[in-house]
Amino acid sequence: MTKNYIYHVKKSAFLKQQLQKRTTNRRGVAATTGQKRKTASLRRQEKNMKTMLREDCKSISKRAEEVFEPLGATKMSASQSTRSMVKGFVKQQVSVGSEDPFIIVDLSSVARRALNWKRLMPRVELFYAVKCNPNPNIVRLLFKMGCNFDCASLEEIKLVRDVMEEEVKLNPAFHLAQQMGDRIIFANPCKQTSHMKYARENHVKMVTADNEFEITKFKQFWPEAEIVIRIKTDDKNSVCAFSSKFGATISVAKKMIQQSKELGLNVVGVSFHVGSNCKDPSTYASALDDSKTIFDFAAQVGYDFKLIDIGGGYPGKDSQEVTFEHITKVVNEKMEQHFADSSIRVIGEPGRYMVTECQTLATNICAKRDQRLIEEGHSQDFLYYVNEGVYGTFNNIYFDHMIVNESNINILKKKRQMKKPLEPAPRFSSTIWGPTCDSVDKLCYSIPLQELDIGDWLFFSDLGAYTSCCSTNFNGFKLTKFFYVYKC
Ligand SMILES: Cc1ncc(COP(=O)(O)O)c(C=O)c1O
Repeated sequence: MTKNYIYHVKKSAFLKQQLQKRTTNRRGVAATTGQKRKTASLRRQEKNMKTMLREDCKSISKRAEEVFEPLGATKMSASQSTRSMVKGFVKQQVSVGSEDPFIIVDLSSVARRALNWKRLMPRVELFYAVKCNPNPNIVRLLFKMGCNFDCASLEEIKLVRDVMEEEVKLNPAFHLAQQMGDRIIFANPCKQTSHMKYARENHVKMVTADNEFEITKFKQFWPEAEIVIRIKTDDKNSVCAFSSKFGATISVAKKMIQQSKELGLNVVGVSFHVGSNCKDPSTYASALDDSKTIFDFAAQVGYDFKLIDIGGGYPGKDSQEVTFEHITKVVNEKMEQHFADSSIRVIGEPGRYMVTECQTLATNICAKRDQRLIEEGHSQDFLYYVNEGVYGTFNNIYFDHMIVNESNINILKKKRQMKKPLEPAPRFSSTIWGPTCDSVDKLCYSIPLQELDIGDWLFFSDLGAYTSCCSTNFNGFKLTKFFYVYKC
């Protein structure tokens, strides 16, 4: 991400703020001619900034070939529908005799998300949560765009390090140790000692902790670490709650700070995670209030905290309940209230927000059973068997609350229908199974579908978050292959 771009987003946000303040003034008191002139000039400046922002996005589009093609991505037209893109890849697969499932990764969607983050929360540095989708090409792209990384383990730190090492080869002036220190946070509050040692040896500096035992581990294995205290949040309105597992209560956080002071450790700030897929923006506001309490306490103890980490939790897709933009408004306001001091570094660790939309999965129907023929009083009309299941990409049915139903299944018929039927096809009660010999390997049960055939393809959008990262080879099925694209 260019310095220019960051300057533009910051300036644009500042101007917007000024304008908001002026509008509030105007509501109460009639504006003087001078005020009106100033407001008009601010509006003009804001408009110019917006134009510049758009131009900066365009300049990234102009550099698209340079950015995406080295990552093996194929160019697609921005107006091409997902259906037609999947159709193209299916055709290609069929022509080489393959019926294997595949995933299309749209790298430009990840880039757009990063730009949107910067636009809506210019103050918050983006530390991508690698766990959500550790695809090296996604990490490479975000690294090139100037983003940073939240790593949960030795292997994730190593992955980011490997990407940085590629840069060292291209640019000998690149300072690996410094970048490891500035651009990674080891954000797993409960760590294996060997992972702490690896992080330390590889120049990682920032690391989270949420209990007193972890603090004693720092004294022994990593005394110069920049410790960030992770506090508990009220995550009842998040789809995946974490607070039963992680986070210090306010009183434990205070004890940890005192203990660290006595041990001569370097505590630098506060972090929290509101729970993944958070439906209630006010959770961020409460967590920022609690963070402020801890900042104030730390100051009394003699620490000068300089980091606030607002974690993840942002939606992968906007819904009626919550939008990313709404969350950013709440966060920006609270930061202005509690952490206006610009010397405080503010970081965030988005996972699903960055990658949910970037992956589309296509899977092939490899077997079928007509229950109407064999079972009297049958509960299901058809059973289908596809070649991707819960031990593969659909592990998110168990781990991430994914529900497969008629609204998110897209059908590509093997045989092209010559004429559009006059009547909609009749629906049958259908169950879809994954490919393994385990009966928990089920995508959905008893949903209304038109009759499908062996060889038809089903495709599913928005499968980029917490999917491929948990796939296995169970029963000898290979991991699903990726095709990379960018839209321009
Ligand atoms: C410490 C930490 N940060 C960030 C994330 C990413 O969260 P999300 O995908 O909700 O943005 C997670 C998810 O587990 C996490 O544990």
